[in-house]
Amino acid sequence: MAENNKTAAAGAVPPKPKAAAPGAAKPAPSKPAPSNTAPASGGVYKPPVDRPDPNPYKETRVSDLTAWFQERFYVLVPVIDYLKKKEVPKHRLSFWYYFGGLALFFFMIQIVTGLLLLQYYKPTEAEAFASFVFIQQHVPYGWLIRQIHAWSANLMALMAFIHMFSTFFMKSYRKPRELMWVSGFLLLVLTLGFGFTGYLLPWNELAFFATQVGTEVPKVAPGGAFLVSILRGGEEVSGETLTRMFSLHVVLLPGLLMLVLSAHLMLVQVLGTSAPIGYKGTGMIKGYEKFFPTFLAKDAIGWMIGFALLVYLAWAFPWHIGIKADPLTPAPVGIKPEWYFWAQFQLLKDLKFEGGELLAIISLTVGGIVWMLVPFFDRQASKEEKSPAFTIFGLLVLAFLLINTFRVYLEYGW
Ligand code: HEM
Repeated sequence: MAENNKTAAAGAVPPKPKAAAPGAAKPAPSKPAPSNTAPASGGVYKPPVDRPDPNPYKETRVSDLTAWFQERFYVLVPVIDYLKKKEVPKHRLSFWYYFGGLALFFFMIQIVTGLLLLQYYKPTEAEAFASFVFIQQHVPYGWLIRQIHAWSANLMALMAFIHMFSTFFMKSYRKPRELMWVSGFLLLVLTLGFGFTGYLLPWNELAFFATQVGTEVPKVAPGGAFLVSILRGGEEVSGETLTRMFSLHVVLLPGLLMLVLSAHLMLVQVLGTSAPIGYKGTGMIKGYEKFFPTFLAKDAIGWMIGFALLVYLAWAFPWHIGIKADPLTPAPVGIKPEWYFWAQFQLLKDLKFEGGELLAIISLTVGGIVWMLVPFFDRQASKEEKSPAFTIFGLLVLAFLLINTFRVYLEYGW
């Protein structure tokens, strides 16, 4: 088994950290266990008299301040112990372990800068564009915050893609990490949802028509027209659409993403970091480093580099705000979505025959579901055996995304 975490084994639940500490009160073995549910005479509930010590850690040697917190949050002590025990394997592919943390970092940047933008942004058809101009031109450092938000969104999506393919090719999704993969896939979908809903918020011409094209796509599928009217808040893209995109962008998607992210990170901590198949016991692992503080400190160095890059990009390559959307003018030529939808966009363009769009939608949906469930199909990897067929599958998916994205770039430019 390839886990670093010495407690974790394939399919096995890691043993609980020792709960007993010096001085912990033990329940008397001879007495019958008290029932929590049986009502006392007269139907009045009485709590059991003989209970084990609720805080088995109270006698451990800690500073006064730590003791104060420990008395209140002692249930977290085993969790912290667990974090201290977690180790990350060192090998020639260890570099790829940093990309999940980088995606997380850019997400945190999004929350902070998003909250700052919210102080001035006005999500109405009449005011949205003007509020963006105001942020760019009059709010102190508003231009920087807006540019960082826009760039960080792109970098977060890029990091999530790199992280997904690196975990795919290392087969980190194999048993018992299937749900890490599934939750990660949902994170990617939510990240793309952020990009899609955020695109319209400046209410500029490009975003307006791109949203019109993007929200049109599901129409060809059965029940799609209903979905389109829900997304748009009517037949056409309008101020109603802006309200919907705004509420999705600042309420629903952040809430969902944080929920799924908590599950993802909890699984990462509980199951530990995996090593590629065949690395363990063959001398390819050059030791382990403690997650806390060694790996985390290296993560932090990556984050600082990421932040420096972000500020440079925001300063040197600003995203232009364009001109205000006018629904009555015809769509300008060269309308395209953001780069992370280019591959799908190109497929829709390629299948421009009768029923082609529906075929593209079905292929993308089925392909996405298969990709999400890949850990359950790859039986060989779960048995710690190499699975070249899945590596080829991953390479084909990557090639599809890269080639189609490049084709859109060639046709439309950046
Ligand atoms: C917002 C997006 C995401 C964030 C913030 C995130 C965060 C993280 C972090 C911090 C780790 C631990 C360090 C590492 O191995 O890089 C991790 C591990 C992992 N993530 Fe993600 N992740 C995201 C998206 C994804 C996606 C899209 C997938 C795949 C579909 C995925 C699958 C995994 C797997 C399988 C692991 C375990 C790696 C191992 O044990 O070797 N994650 N994630």
